[in-house]
Order: sequence, then C-alpha cells, then structure tokens
Amino acid sequence: MAATLLTFETVGKRFANDVLALDRVGFSVADGEFVSLVGPSGCGKSTILRLAAGLTEPTSGTITWTGSRPRLGFVFQDAALMPWATVEKNVRLPLELLGAEEGLIRNRIKETLELVGLTAFAHAFPRELSGGMKMRVSLARALAPEPGVLLMDEPFAALDEFTRERLNDELRGLWQARGLTILFVTHSIYESVYLSSRVLVMRPRPGRIVGDLNMAQPMNRDAEFRHSPEYAERCRALREVLLEGAHS
Ligand SMILES: Nc1ncnc2c1ncn2[C@@H]1O[C@H](COP(=O)(O)OP(=O)(O)OP(=O)(O)O)[C@@H](O)[C@H]1O
Ligand SMILES: [Mg+2]
Repeated sequence: MAATLLTFETVGKRFANDVLALDRVGFSVADGEFVSLVGPSGCGKSTILRLAAGLTEPTSGTITWTGSRPRLGFVFQDAALMPWATVEKNVRLPLELLGAEEGLIRNRIKETLELVGLTAFAHAFPRELSGGMKMRVSLARALAPEPGVLLMDEPFAALDEFTRERLNDELRGLWQARGLTILFVTHSIYESVYLSSRVLVMRPRPGRIVGDLNMAQPMNRDAEFRHSPEYAERCRALREVLLEGAHS
C-alpha cells in the first residue's frame, strides 16, 4: 500500500457570493495514484484542484500534504499562457523561476515541446495557436520542471479525438515512467475510465463526492482495452453512479 500524499478532510468552500461550492469533501490520494474527478459542470472540480494547489483556502475542514509538499505542475482549464511571450518562453518561465541552469532549461524545453508535438511552433505566440495547441503548451509548461504531482483541469477537452487519445497514452506513459501522482479533472466518463487508477465521482449544489471507484487494473491501457467488455462495463457503472448522485 503506497503512502498517503494528500488528504482532504471535511473540506467546505463557500465563496464570497455565498455559493457553497464544496460541502464536507473528504478523500485522500496515495503516492503514485492517477485519480480522476468526474462530475457535472459546477460541482466544484476546479475548486478542489485550486485548493490542492493552495491557490485558495477552504472555509472549513483541512487539506494536508504528508511531509513536505511535492513540486506541483498545474494545467489550468483555460491554458492561461502569457500572451506577450512565445511558446518557448512560456515553457521557459517556470524553469527560470526555479533557478535551473541554461543547458538544462534548453533540454527540458526541447523534450516537452517534442512530447506535445509543438516543436515547430516554439517561436509562435499564443494568439497564433488553436485552442488545443494552447492547451498543449500549458501541458509542456507544467511538465518541464518535472513535478511530482500533476493537477490537470480538463486539459484535453478542446482537442480532436485522435490527438486526445494520443495524449492520453502519453500521459499514462509519463505517469508510469516518472512515478507521478496525478489529479485529473474531466467531464468525460470514457476518458476517466481509460486513464485513471481511481475515479472520484461528484455531484453539484453543493459539491460532494458520491463515489470512489477503483480502476487500478489492468496496468496496460491500449486500443484493446478501449474496446474490451470490461471497459464498457466500467463506463456503464460510472455513468450509473453519476446519475444516482445527480438525483440524490
Ligand atoms: N471565485 C468564485 N467566486 C464565486 N463563486 C465561484 C468562484 N469559483 C467557483 N465558483 C462557484 O463554485 C461552484 C463550483 O465551481 P467550479 O469551477 O469548481 O466547478 P467545476 O466542477 O470545475 O465546473 P466546470 O466543469 O464547469 O469547470 C460553481 O457554482 C461556481 O459558480
Ligand atoms: Mg472547472
């Protein structure tokens, strides 16, 4: 059993406008897990990621990192690139902030741009890119400093199906190769079942966790898994928990 890395305990979040975004949310994430958060729009998925990153504070309950907080990589729902900087400079900034030396910075930029398929656009500005390309820059920027934990907010929602499937496989590969821990937000039942070792199901108003589904096996995910009866069965079961949650 891997060590617990992150714990949410009876976490509540009420915004200044009195919206109760999260109500008594409790879960923990073990080192090396790939956890997806799935639920309808407005159920508080982005809020959970922002809380985990310390970008906002809970109004009740506690959020704890075991030991010192690992380096975090954040892929925001809206790419959030610097419009005045080229693709290369957007990826470079977090490395410079960490004080990395120039040789390492160049290597990491090269590697991560290759990974997301944007080498040819290193000198382009964000305004010259499509929505999906911007998200891939955001992914490269998050990966470049080699974080221990990746927080990803619907990173592939704007991509075409084939690019999405390819990046799903790349992400699984990275997760395994680097021993990453991933907290991944998606609307897609299919994507969460394909990617994750565990799926947390949420319901809205107020946001709560209504299901915790183990999907650790099989480790191998490929086209065969995507078309297997087991995959279809998991998607069906997850859909059921989502529907039950919506009406509870
Ligand atoms: N800064 C804010 N101020 C006030 N209300 C907010 C703020 N951020 C989020 N909310 C509210 O909190 C709730 C949860 O928002 P959140 O963005 O976490 O949902 P989500 O599950 O990520 O939705 P989506 O799938 O549409 O991205 C929503 O009702 C939203 O209106
Ligand atoms: Mg969101």
